[in-house]
Amino acid sequence: EKGGFASFMDKEIHDQPQAVADTLLGRFDLEGRLTLDDMRIDESLLKSIDKIVVIACGTAAYAGQVARYAIEHWCRIPTEVELAHEFRYRDPVVNEKTLIVAISQSGETMDTLMAVRHAREQGAKVIAICNTYGSSIPRESDAVLYTHAGPEIAVASTKAFLSQIVACYLLGLYLAQLRGNKYRDEIETVIRELQEIPAKIQRLLDEDKQQVVDLAAKYKDTQSVLFLGRHVGYPVAMEGALKLKELAYIHAEGFAAGELKHGPIALIDEGQMVFIIVPSKNGRDSLHAKVVSNIQEVRARGANTIVIAEEGDEEVRQYASEVIFVPQTATLLAPLLATVPLQVFAMELATDKGLDVDQPRNLAKSVTVE
Ligand code: M6R
Repeated sequence: EKGGFASFMDKEIHDQPQAVADTLLGRFDLEGRLTLDDMRIDESLLKSIDKIVVIACGTAAYAGQVARYAIEHWCRIPTEVELAHEFRYRDPVVNEKTLIVAISQSGETMDTLMAVRHAREQGAKVIAICNTYGSSIPRESDAVLYTHAGPEIAVASTKAFLSQIVACYLLGLYLAQLRGNKYRDEIETVIRELQEIPAKIQRLLDEDKQQVVDLAAKYKDTQSVLFLGRHVGYPVAMEGALKLKELAYIHAEGFAAGELKHGPIALIDEGQMVFIIVPSKNGRDSLHAKVVSNIQEVRARGANTIVIAEEGDEEVRQYASEVIFVPQTATLLAPLLATVPLQVFAMELATDKGLDVDQPRNLAKSVTVE
């Protein structure tokens, strides 16, 4: 049932083109209007919400962070992302005008379920983004947008993460259409670009995997790895670090690259391994330039800089110990590609250390206690 792969995780990483394609399938009608499954919230109500709060835990919360950049940009609705267990116990301000988006692969995460219940008690409507039909969180929500990733067996989340991000984009695009399409042209481009993502992930797996396998072998004995990103690259950095902790039991931390000077740069020493996720140059020159200068800052202090950049971004080569190129796409969609080498890196490094990548120590696939 591993389909010839060495582990479920390996299989699930390779399932990602399909998982993304299936999550996109059948969502657009002939006029290009989005349709969501199980939408039991009145559209007039969705037009009047004044705040979105995304609640989730772990990897699902990083998908939520990506969602925030997209939803705020396309819909101009203030959007917060919060860990479900923090949200639940801090007396949050939510009401009938708040839309809660609860993201959960399993649909059984108790922290997220409790936060959903709490929000509904305050009158908020809840849309669940979930991978498991009929599980508790969708059952207790007002609407559901299913990710069609198929069963995810490995404890560490991979294909569910990419599918959650896709579902968040769909929700953002739907709300943007519903509330009057301010960025019509951009949204049309994004919808087109989304359709091209599965083939791009496939190309990445076909062409870049060996480079990442070699990289993992080279750094097998490393004790600590840092990940830097800005904008949507920030949650990608967090996710890269989480995968490495979970699978390889290596101390790993993700930072917003802009925070470097505010403290973390003190960690940089000769030979420190640092992944840097570089945003596309396309239309975001200043963001790109900022990250390039972050690479230089850590490089000057002796770091080994592993740069994830868009194909064609030759400028970064001179500052990088190694560059992993990913296919070009719209800025907001980049996490669907940039995450993949980080998943492969964590899996390969753990495998090189002789660890069980499907069932890491101390972890459960779904956390059903608070
Ligand atoms: O089933 P859920 O999406 O609600 O699970 C949330 C987290 O427990 C989960 O993403 C966890 O962080 C994974 N082990 C990440 O790989």
